[in-house]
Amino acid sequence: MRKIIFALVLASSLLASACSRQDKPNEYNLIPYPQEIQKIEGQFELSSFIKVKYVGDEDSRFVAQSFCDLIAKSTGIEIQPEETSSLEVEKGAVKFALNPNQQGKEGSFALSVTKKSVLVSSANPVGLFYGFQTIRQLLPPQVEQGDLVEGVDWLIPCVEIQDEPQLKYRGLMLDVGRHFFPVEFIKKYIDLLALHKMNVFHWHLTEDQGWRLEIKKYPELAKVAAYRNETLIGHGGRRPFKYDGKPYGGYYTQEEAREIVKYAADRFITVIPEIELPGHSQAALTAYPELGCTGGPYEVARRWGVFPEVYCAGEEKTFEFLENVMLEVMDIFPSEYIHIGGDECPKVRWEKCKKCQARMKAEGCHDEHELQSYFIQRIEKFLNKHGRQIIGWDEILEGGLAPNATVMSWRGEKGGIAAAKQGHDVVMTPTSHFYLDYYQNNKKEEPLAIGGFLTLSKVYSYNPMPKELTAEEQKHIIGVQGNVWTEYMPNSEHVEYMVYPRACAITEVGWLGADKKDFNSFMQRLGGHLKRLDVLDVNYFDKLVKPGTKSKIVKIEDSGIVELTNNTPGSVIYYTTNGNMPTDTASVYNQGIKVTDACTIKAIAVLPTGEQSDVLEVVVNKK
Ligand code: ACM
Ligand code: ZN
Repeated sequence: MRKIIFALVLASSLLASACSRQDKPNEYNLIPYPQEIQKIEGQFELSSFIKVKYVGDEDSRFVAQSFCDLIAKSTGIEIQPEETSSLEVEKGAVKFALNPNQQGKEGSFALSVTKKSVLVSSANPVGLFYGFQTIRQLLPPQVEQGDLVEGVDWLIPCVEIQDEPQLKYRGLMLDVGRHFFPVEFIKKYIDLLALHKMNVFHWHLTEDQGWRLEIKKYPELAKVAAYRNETLIGHGGRRPFKYDGKPYGGYYTQEEAREIVKYAADRFITVIPEIELPGHSQAALTAYPELGCTGGPYEVARRWGVFPEVYCAGEEKTFEFLENVMLEVMDIFPSEYIHIGGDECPKVRWEKCKKCQARMKAEGCHDEHELQSYFIQRIEKFLNKHGRQIIGWDEILEGGLAPNATVMSWRGEKGGIAAAKQGHDVVMTPTSHFYLDYYQNNKKEEPLAIGGFLTLSKVYSYNPMPKELTAEEQKHIIGVQGNVWTEYMPNSEHVEYMVYPRACAITEVGWLGADKKDFNSFMQRLGGHLKRLDVLDVNYFDKLVKPGTKSKIVKIEDSGIVELTNNTPGSVIYYTTNGNMPTDTASVYNQGIKVTDACTIKAIAVLPTGEQSDVLEVVVNKK
């Protein structure tokens, strides 16, 4: 097997060296893939003779300037964008043209690359920006280098593209409460969102284990709530608990948060801040114990989990505090949405608290779920009054949904379906497909994670439009998001390891839609795309995973389908069903293997380099 693969690689490299560079086959390793693409032979070459032009106002100029900045560093070609009023292609020019007459929704754009010219046109600046990202992905990966690269032909393959996102919300969340990440990393995280045409950074800023945003009116948040005395060692489910004995913490100043908002806005990304309420608030209560039902004392949590100490819903000071916090949050974050959390709020303190019980009586709440609903509706009213909308985890459905709330469906799709049926907007982020804190390989071979098992192919397979919804109701599914909870991700490199390349699959799900996506095509493109992530120094997961790490014994009645999944971009799975070792005569795996009799399937994954995984055996028995 290895030999054959090696021979193939050798043959193709000989072929390549025999051709001139203009004859190199074009690569279109675009992620997400465009809605419509026509591949064309030939390339446009960047040189110091080209011009960069823009049509439109400051936003267009900004996109053109971003393109110039990208190429200047690595190619040494320094160009200043020039304004023009002509929407037509221009020989020797890369043009970004804002054209209000163009059709299409927000983010839609057309890109035409010929040997003589490059033209991106769109009715809106964000479309121009996405066109720029497409050009960026068409350029050699070394363009990302950030300093001068010699010996590269700076070619953009010719192509005609018409593109637009299927879903308007495509995001990633980052939990900075469990672990704290430096501003420079947050910027890198945002840069990668931009590269992948994602448009939301959901910043989970407050947790039991740490409050991470400076609030001027409540200085104890930064002094006390941002720090814990020590951190759990090992998994949160394992007893007895052991701790590292080291104080841990940090927070973002308002100045830093504003800098992040601006950095994201320059990349057409909205930052949605999350201020958790009424639960996951033990750190805040440690700083301001009068906001809890028992009055404390509390401590910033040192281990992971769900804690009973939550804001008192009967105490007026709670609402005064949260409203004051929200005033500062709204001043920093211009986003329409403010995320208010709402998940995992135990009610044990409320059940025993006189003030909470009095509030329930006064408000006519039948149970504590309705008290939570009162809590959230009150915060919603306040935020609505200031022109903002709330978004919250699907528990906000319990006890009655706030009138204008958008729901983030995480405990599967149930909450999302219920919310859409009630006419509320929904972002799909189910644990089953989008929890990037889950294992992505055999857990024995991986650093400690929370649990679960979520392969790249499973992420990719997600269809955010549940069949239970009518076409009209499906319009309420506004987007998708990957969640990155960081209990077991102590540093930035570890975050990248868990997020990429699974986030590449999420963006394609949101952008391309269920009808057009194709996993085989995605894996082929991903092989090339990862070279770009290499240059960008992204610590992505790249282990060769055995095909089908999960089920090894399968029971069938008359017949069944055995699915083999493999995570490694660019690898091919070979298999046999007669018990023989997979060799060069083995079948290539494309889709589930249909079996009608008892048999043993043997499979391996092989990379183009010849590296191969161990053999996986699947024993098929008849019931
Ligand atoms: C969540 O994962 N608790 C939203
Ligand atoms: Zn209370």
